[in-house]
Amino acid sequence: VGDALVDTHGRVHRDLRISLTDRCSLRCTYCMPEQGNEWLAKTSILTLDEIESIARVAAADGITTFRLTGGEPLLRTDIVDVVRRLAAITGPTGAPVEIAMTTNGIRLPELLPALIEAGLDRLNISIDTLRRDRFHELTRRDRLDDVLEGIAAAAASALRPLKLNAVAMRDVNDDELVELVEFAIAHDAQMRFIEQMPLDAGHTWDRSRMVTQDEILAALAQRWTLTPVPGRGGAPAARWTLDGGPHSVGVIASVTAPFCGDCDRLRLTADGQLRNCLFSTTEYDVLPILRQAQEPVAEPVEASIDAGIDGMLRSCVHGKLPGHAINDPAFLQPARGM
Ligand code: GTP
Ligand code: 5AD
Ligand code: SF4
Repeated sequence: VGDALVDTHGRVHRDLRISLTDRCSLRCTYCMPEQGNEWLAKTSILTLDEIESIARVAAADGITTFRLTGGEPLLRTDIVDVVRRLAAITGPTGAPVEIAMTTNGIRLPELLPALIEAGLDRLNISIDTLRRDRFHELTRRDRLDDVLEGIAAAAASALRPLKLNAVAMRDVNDDELVELVEFAIAHDAQMRFIEQMPLDAGHTWDRSRMVTQDEILAALAQRWTLTPVPGRGGAPAARWTLDGGPHSVGVIASVTAPFCGDCDRLRLTADGQLRNCLFSTTEYDVLPILRQAQEPVAEPVEASIDAGIDGMLRSCVHGKLPGHAINDPAFLQPARGM
């Protein structure tokens, strides 16, 4: 425990994305089937104590950002405590970790004050369309107003930068890109457009129908002069200022311009499996380490659990490939998404 998580390609890992639940209040077509996924058994979902144990070891190994995701993270009934316990973790130099969350926004109005008080630093909210009928069709739930209220609550808070995510989809929302950016600007947020990736449960992703980064930029260039922002670091989004700034827009071009070479992320599924890539098919199971029968051991149990978690983090990082293979003709979608 305590050495940086460097993979065989020299990438240092600083970001752990923690899925808190596999459930969601929406059913976005590019993510879940209508009836939902086959949900994980409640008993296999990591408890707050287990998440904290993994996060503590990860922070000691140089992870500086925990991003809470789902499913929908706000569906966890102990979400405020999760934020509070993770926010209290410090890295090897004593510096606090950053707590970020990606959410569909639906429970934000009621939860945001408590989340901020507990130590939440940053929010990304998904909003693919501003039209009620489209939202209903795309997410299979008539809840646009709830999402808009969530975004309004985030905009009224002090959390910045606030980012809004939209997956760009042909004949679904590709005529709304300018409107979405204007909506983001009005909320002092950064709009980000995402190329659709082959992650849907129905395996219906079709490259020829994907809206590419080039098309997104061409649509926005009709309205604004776009100037690239240098210094992207490991961030998935490339950014452009709009008419010279201060506002900017981001594009996450995971398919046509993958950022794998700079990837600094690891993932933890809600049932305790570590993954080194969104597209990896291998999982590194931490659950048996956390739940090992507490037989008498020579060293204190807690230290042996920490060593086990650390070993699993290192195996996961060691097994990381240089990049995803979406563009490879033999590409196979992972059996289960995040
Ligand atoms: P920031 O730290 O704010 O940049 O967060 P983020 O963009 O990493 O997180 P967010 O959850 O908002 O994700 C936005 C989009 O990036 C989603 O479509 C994610 O699926 C995608 N994304 C996040 N991490 C990865 C990754 O490791 N690989 C790929 N290909 N896409 C990713
Ligand atoms: N392709 C691209 N982005 C996706 N997201 C979910 N599924 C996909 C996909 N197949 C996005 C959501 C959310 C973020 C967590 O990931 O829209 O913004
Ligand atoms: Fe829920 Fe996000 Fe999947 Fe939509 S993309 S169904 S909001 S987890």
